[in-house]
Amino acid sequence: MTDNKIKKDKKKDSKISAEAVEKVLSNKAEEQELKKTRFRPNIIITGTPGCGKSTLSKTLKDISELKINLFNISEYAKENKIFESYDESRDSHVIDEDELLDRLESQLRKGGCIIDWHCNDIFPERLIDLVVVLRCGTSALYDRLKARNYKDSKIQENIDAEIMSVVLEDALESYDKRIVIELQNDKDTNIQENVDKVKTWIEQWVLDNKSGVTNEVDEFYKDREMPEDWDSDEE
Ligand SMILES: Nc1ncnc2c1ncn2[C@@H]1O[C@H](COP(=O)(O)OP(=O)(O)OP(=O)(O)O)[C@@H](O)[C@H]1O
Ligand SMILES: [Mg+2]
Repeated sequence: MTDNKIKKDKKKDSKISAEAVEKVLSNKAEEQELKKTRFRPNIIITGTPGCGKSTLSKTLKDISELKINLFNISEYAKENKIFESYDESRDSHVIDEDELLDRLESQLRKGGCIIDWHCNDIFPERLIDLVVVLRCGTSALYDRLKARNYKDSKIQENIDAEIMSVVLEDALESYDKRIVIELQNDKDTNIQENVDKVKTWIEQWVLDNKSGVTNEVDEFYKDREMPEDWDSDEE
């Protein structure tokens, strides 16, 4: 926020202005203490709409010993009003991805985050330790989306995306394939099975990375090839 904006806010309402100043200062303080190393893994839980991302993410968050910091990106974007435009054809807001990444960077650097979102390819590789792609059979997915009263065209669009593994392909293009896993999530019993798998994976990661892993670009790409489309402004 610029000084001019703060002055304008001050004129409008001194209480709001104080909050605005506080927010700028706390963002600055956060920037100054960006962690160089994380000791808990960051996980993206992704998949076609309706495949069960939020159900799995919330159940993991409820396991207090895992100390999960959960970001449901659709809700987070709404709460923080980080939209860049409105897509009339889809009847939905388009999230400002640069703003989203700017805000999440300091959180991801602390580790222990779960990102719940159907998009998975915008987060920097150096900050992500596991990408869980939930998969759901056509008939279960149809029932779930129908129960939400989605239009038939929207149901079909999502079922086609699931059949064509669109979300999995995005994940495999954006991250090392060794950190991308698929978990089937058709029936009730899958929920606990998947929770147990991810929990065990987190615990093993912590044991395997006692010295932590780097959040820093230079360190991360020391022994790796830099992506061709890497943009220094994004990192
Ligand atoms: N393994 C499962 N077996 C049966 N039903 C499930 C399972 N997992 C989730 N569900 C149900 O499917 C519906 C969709 O789940 P959920 O909201 O978690 O999906 P989502 O991937 O987060 O969807 P969106 O992308 O729209 O946010 C919910 O009604 C949920 O209770
Ligand atoms: Mg959800």
